[in-house]
Amino acid sequence: MLSSNKTKTVYICQACGHHSLRWVGKCPDCGTWNSMTEEKVTKHKRAYAKQKIAPTPLGEVNVQDEDRVKTGLKEFDRVVGGGIVKGSVILVGGDPGIGKSTLLLQISEKIASGMNHTVRTSGYDKVLYITGEESLKQIKLRAERLKITPDKIEILTETNLDLILDVLRQDIPFMVVIDSIQTTYTQNLESTPGSISQIRECAHSLINFAKETGSSVFLVGHVTKDGSIAGPKVLEHMVDTVLYFEGEKNHIYRILRTVKNRFGSTNEIGIFQMQEDGLGEVENPSLLFLSERAQNISGSVVVCSLEGTRPLLLELQALVSPSNYGMPQRVCSGIDYKRLALLLAILEKRAGISLGAFDVFVNAAGGVKIEEPAVDLGTTVAITSSFKDIPADNKSVLVGEVGLGGEVRAVNQIERRIREAEKLGFENCIIPQGNLKTLNQRFNIKITGVKSIKEAFDLILT
Ligand code: TYD
Ligand code: MG
Repeated sequence: MLSSNKTKTVYICQACGHHSLRWVGKCPDCGTWNSMTEEKVTKHKRAYAKQKIAPTPLGEVNVQDEDRVKTGLKEFDRVVGGGIVKGSVILVGGDPGIGKSTLLLQISEKIASGMNHTVRTSGYDKVLYITGEESLKQIKLRAERLKITPDKIEILTETNLDLILDVLRQDIPFMVVIDSIQTTYTQNLESTPGSISQIRECAHSLINFAKETGSSVFLVGHVTKDGSIAGPKVLEHMVDTVLYFEGEKNHIYRILRTVKNRFGSTNEIGIFQMQEDGLGEVENPSLLFLSERAQNISGSVVVCSLEGTRPLLLELQALVSPSNYGMPQRVCSGIDYKRLALLLAILEKRAGISLGAFDVFVNAAGGVKIEEPAVDLGTTVAITSSFKDIPADNKSVLVGEVGLGGEVRAVNQIERRIREAEKLGFENCIIPQGNLKTLNQRFNIKITGVKSIKEAFDLILT
C-alpha cells in the first residue's frame, strides 16, 4: 500500500551503495574514487498492514529432507552444501564470458529432467530461464551445443521486473534463473538498469518472491576482479548463497567457489572444465592439475592445499633469475602477493638466501587460486630450488605453514592431505613435525616431519 511518493536526487557509490546528498569525489564509506553517480530515488511512504502476525515456536517448524534438491552435478551439489534449498536465493557472480550462463543452463536442465521427483515435493514443475542478455535463438543454439533436451525449460527474454514478476506469479516455477541482475530493471525507479539502486530493488523483489513461494531463484551477476562492475557485491548480504565462478579465460578450468552459504559450509569448491559441449565435471582434479608437470626441472614442487573439505594436489612453480633493472620484480599468480613478499623476507633472514638482486616469479599451475598458508613450505622450497638450480625430489608432496622464524608450523586436516598424496602414487609426504604426533591412521606412504625450512631444503634439494 503506497501513498504520496516523493522523488529526489541522491548520489550513490556504485561500489558499496553509500548514499550522499551531494557529489563527492571519494566515497566516505569505502574510499573508492569516482564511484558516486547521480540517481533518482522515489521514497515510498509505507502504510503498515493491519494484519496480525505471530511468532512460531522453533520446535514446531518442520524441516524435511526433500527441501534440498540435488542436481546430479556432483561438483555443483557439494558447493551449495548438498543440493539447492527450496526457496533460497543464490547469486552466481563472475567475470563476463567465464561461463555463468552455460553453467546455469546446464543446472536448469538437470533440475528439469529430475522434475518427476521434485514435483512431488513442491507442487511446481518447471524451470524458467529469464534472460535479458541473449535472444531465444542464441539460447537455443547454446542448448544444442550443450546437447541438452530442454523439454521442461521455458525461456523468457525480458528485462522489466514488473512483467517478470507477473509471469512468475501466474505459474510459479520450481526454479528461476535471472540472467543477469544487471539487465533487469523496475519501473518504480528512475535510475538506469545496472545502477546500484536498480540492482538492489530488483533483487529485493525477487528475494521476497522466493521466500513467499518457495521457488528457488538464481541471480547471475557480472563481477570483475578489479571491481569495475561492482554492483552485485552489494547483494551479498541480501541473498542466501553467494557463488563465484572463476578461472583464467585462457585456461579450460573453471572453479565454482562458495563465498557465503546460509545452508552449508563456505570455502567449498567445484571444479569444471570448459569443453566444446559445455562444462564437464572434474572428478579427480589433482590428477588433472599434475598431468602437465615438468619432470626434473628446478623450481617445481607439488603441494597439497585444502579447499573446503577437499584436498587438492597442485604443482607450484618458481623462477628466480638475475634482475636486469634496478627494482627486482616479484610476480605471482595463484598465491597471495603479500604472502610471497613475507616468505622472501623469511628466506633471506632465516636461510641466508638473499634474493634482492633477483626477479622472482611464482605460479600455481592450472590457473588455481590458493588462499591457505599450508602451501608456504612448498613455495619456499620451489623458490630455493630455482635459485640453487637443483630440482626438488619429484616424488614428494610438501605441506606446512612457515612462521616468521623460519619454523614449519602444523596445519589442519593433515590426514586428508596425506591420503590424497598416497592416492596419487607419491612416495613421500613432508609435513610439519608438529603434525606427526597427531596422526592416528596408517598410511602406505613415507611421512617425514620437518621443524624448519632449512631442514626441508636439506631433505628435498639434494
Ligand atoms: P557464457 O556462459 O556465455 O559466459 P557468461 O554467461 O559468464 O558471460 O560462456 C561464454 C564462453 O564459454 C564463450 O567464450 C564460449 C565458451 N563456451 C565453450 O567453450 N563451450 C560451450 O559449450 C559453451 C556453451 C561456451
Ligand atoms: Mg551470460
